[in-house]
Amino acid sequence: MKMKVRNKAAFTDEVTALEKENARVAYEAALEGIVLLENDGTLPLTPGKIALYGAGAGMTIKGGTGSGEVHERHAVTIREGMEAAGFTVTTDHWIEDYAEAYRVGEAAYTRKFRQGLLKLDIANIMASPYQYPFGQPVTLGDIMRSDTDTCIYVIARQAGEGADRKLKSFEYSLSDIEKENIALCAASYEKFIVAVNVGSVFDLSFLDEIEGINAVIYFAQQGMEGGRAFADLITGKSVPSAKTVDTWPKDYKDIPFAMDYSYLNGDLDEEYYREGIYVGYRYFDSYDVEPRYPFGYGLSYTTFSIEKENVELVGTKVMVRANVTNTGSTYSGKEVVQLYASCPQTGMAKEYQRLAAFAKTGVIAPGGTETIVLSFDMKDLASYREADAAWVLEAGDYILRLGASSRDTEAVAALVLDGEAVVEQCTNVSRTVLEVREMDPPALKDTNEEKDAAEAQDADLLRIPVPAPAFETEVCEYRDPKIYESPVSDAVLDVLSTEELCEVVAGTGMVGNGPRFFDAMGSAGYTTGAFIEKGLPNVCLADGPAGLRLQKVSTVTRSGNVKAAEPMLSALKYLPDPVQKVMFGDPDRQPCVYQFTTAFPVGLALAQTWNTKLVERVGDAVGKEMERYGVTYWLAPGMNIHRNPLCGRNFEYYSEDPLLTGKMAAAMSRGVQSHRGCFVTIKHFCCNNQEDNRNRTNANVNERALREIYLRGFRIAVQEGHARALMTSYNKVNGTYVNNSYELLTKVLRNEWGFDGLVMTDWFATGKGLGSHSAAIEAGNDLIMPGGKGVVRELRAKLKSGELDGTALRRCAANVIRGVTESRIYQAYRRMYKEK
Ligand code: BGC
Repeated sequence: MKMKVRNKAAFTDEVTALEKENARVAYEAALEGIVLLENDGTLPLTPGKIALYGAGAGMTIKGGTGSGEVHERHAVTIREGMEAAGFTVTTDHWIEDYAEAYRVGEAAYTRKFRQGLLKLDIANIMASPYQYPFGQPVTLGDIMRSDTDTCIYVIARQAGEGADRKLKSFEYSLSDIEKENIALCAASYEKFIVAVNVGSVFDLSFLDEIEGINAVIYFAQQGMEGGRAFADLITGKSVPSAKTVDTWPKDYKDIPFAMDYSYLNGDLDEEYYREGIYVGYRYFDSYDVEPRYPFGYGLSYTTFSIEKENVELVGTKVMVRANVTNTGSTYSGKEVVQLYASCPQTGMAKEYQRLAAFAKTGVIAPGGTETIVLSFDMKDLASYREADAAWVLEAGDYILRLGASSRDTEAVAALVLDGEAVVEQCTNVSRTVLEVREMDPPALKDTNEEKDAAEAQDADLLRIPVPAPAFETEVCEYRDPKIYESPVSDAVLDVLSTEELCEVVAGTGMVGNGPRFFDAMGSAGYTTGAFIEKGLPNVCLADGPAGLRLQKVSTVTRSGNVKAAEPMLSALKYLPDPVQKVMFGDPDRQPCVYQFTTAFPVGLALAQTWNTKLVERVGDAVGKEMERYGVTYWLAPGMNIHRNPLCGRNFEYYSEDPLLTGKMAAAMSRGVQSHRGCFVTIKHFCCNNQEDNRNRTNANVNERALREIYLRGFRIAVQEGHARALMTSYNKVNGTYVNNSYELLTKVLRNEWGFDGLVMTDWFATGKGLGSHSAAIEAGNDLIMPGGKGVVRELRAKLKSGELDGTALRRCAANVIRGVTESRIYQAYRRMYKEK
């Protein structure tokens, strides 16, 4: 058979050793990412008969839709996991009836989808994934038949890119039928547990209305081993150790400007970030709003005490040593320890507290103690002062709070700064300062203020003097990228003409037209293969973030070409049958090649582990698959801030907190990039916090909030994780498309942070009515994706007319070429080249 497959895709569908190894990592990640929200002692359970209901019981949702989908061999459902753990599920009939309702609903959806295709309303239909039915009523008959006193009800919701979650269609809350079902189960079963299989914060107000719910589990979306991990937590084989990464409000409207978000105020074009820096717990804590569950909260089957041992300051580095003791008597478990800082309210208004550091213990046996160290650089507590464009530590008391959640801490020290310290001098990148009218800061005579003052004066509180001169001012240097040193020598660049460089900075188009040295089947995009003969092979870019999104099965044609055997996006399975026939090969009649990849928990669930080492292992596991299948750029991790729980892609992102987000992305980057020639692509830079109208919406955000909340995580991923690539977002920020923003891409990213990797657009983010291709190049956005001939034509025309600067183009091309020459594919290419 003549084969053009050049990667290590298998020719049989046997389970590989790597699949088994990575499944183990996925399982461990899921175990540590499931949050126990409520438990009156009912959990853990001894295996026996169990009634399982709800959309997610038999059709557990492992991850969201869209580019974040992963095509694993099999995802273990909650029902399967429970059975494997020794439970007998006694509600098979209910689960099967539900599956039937799902199929009927899906058939109706398919019809609607196809009608939409006729009307060419493609954007709209792609953006509305099939919503799982809420489920049929649970009847008294079902309950009798289930013959058990124990029940788990799994609520499930699906979401994905292109659309935000709609309040009206119960995407954020329970439908009436679910409420009735849950109320009946709560009244009928002695032990009743609710599990929430949703990729973002969900309305749990039914907990206030319905009595008899003994435990609540936030399962989120846990990848292909989620069902197994769930069951092992239920039995107590493992003990929950996850914590929330967002504030769970009592009521959606408790969130600031809740009804102005995205589609809710009818204006999809302009989004005003009027809450400023007060996002998530920064708002709830500062304005004294009681959350349902605070940030950083989660239960265990055991209990822990956290005692400060000492607080040390070395230079500007702060280290807090703490002893964590398992005070329970039965279960071993892990604890997440968090350190928050309340900064002085001497100048700029500040949030009541912000996360400064965190650490997770290992497994501690009952009675055992582990000593952990939480450390951070005090300069990271600086706030951004717009008036003088500087990161500033204002004089006063920085109170450190140590504890098990944001609302369960104890003040352990005050760092007393004796004067103001400017730690970094920048220039503002927003056109006007304070353009957005933000809400008033919390009143100065707030109870928190008084508490701060009292704590600071507390005679017992350890007070550590910090001299302001300990901080040096870093002055950012804004150099034009055109006069940077090129990462690739002139000799290499000069092999290609300036016209040809226009092709280097564009991908090959969605279907990857043109010659290709190498294809990891199912890649989302490719760099150009037009210059294979001149020394430049193409490389492949594949999604994330919940694993590597590749074509699981491909068929091989007689001429040796490969063709997808099944849809890469679930939405494509709704295309008319004749279209599918043309698009997809027939695996029953043709030889196949296989690329099984691992579906890991979604980003939010990974963050809930609060375990950076574990996330690094997930990155390492992804890196191994990238090596095997020849992917150079992984289009992940996603790291936008959870500004509002309705954002359709929250599941892909980590948290409402920028520090946690940045640390997770840095850990993931380290894991992936420990494989030489494999690179992450942190995305979507920045303020891609809305999915409705994502291509056109303008995020109006003041410079301080932009820097402290929305850019901070990216900075950590760049500086600590050394992320090698970054994807710009679809949206505008303060009136300019991010992919056209010299301010953000060159001044902030490259000049201030020292990023020296590749910047690419999101797919089809430039073009008519959007950011322009050539302005993207000039701004420092190196690669236009997915690119295609039209992009190249336009760049050439602009080059000719003088509208595109040749030096900027050279610079971008150099960044693309550098990535290619440092890829693994390039090594293979060189070997072949030499052989020739
Ligand atoms: C998404 C990106 C993704 C890209 C390629 C876009 O629709 O926004 O996150 O990486 O597609 O699949």
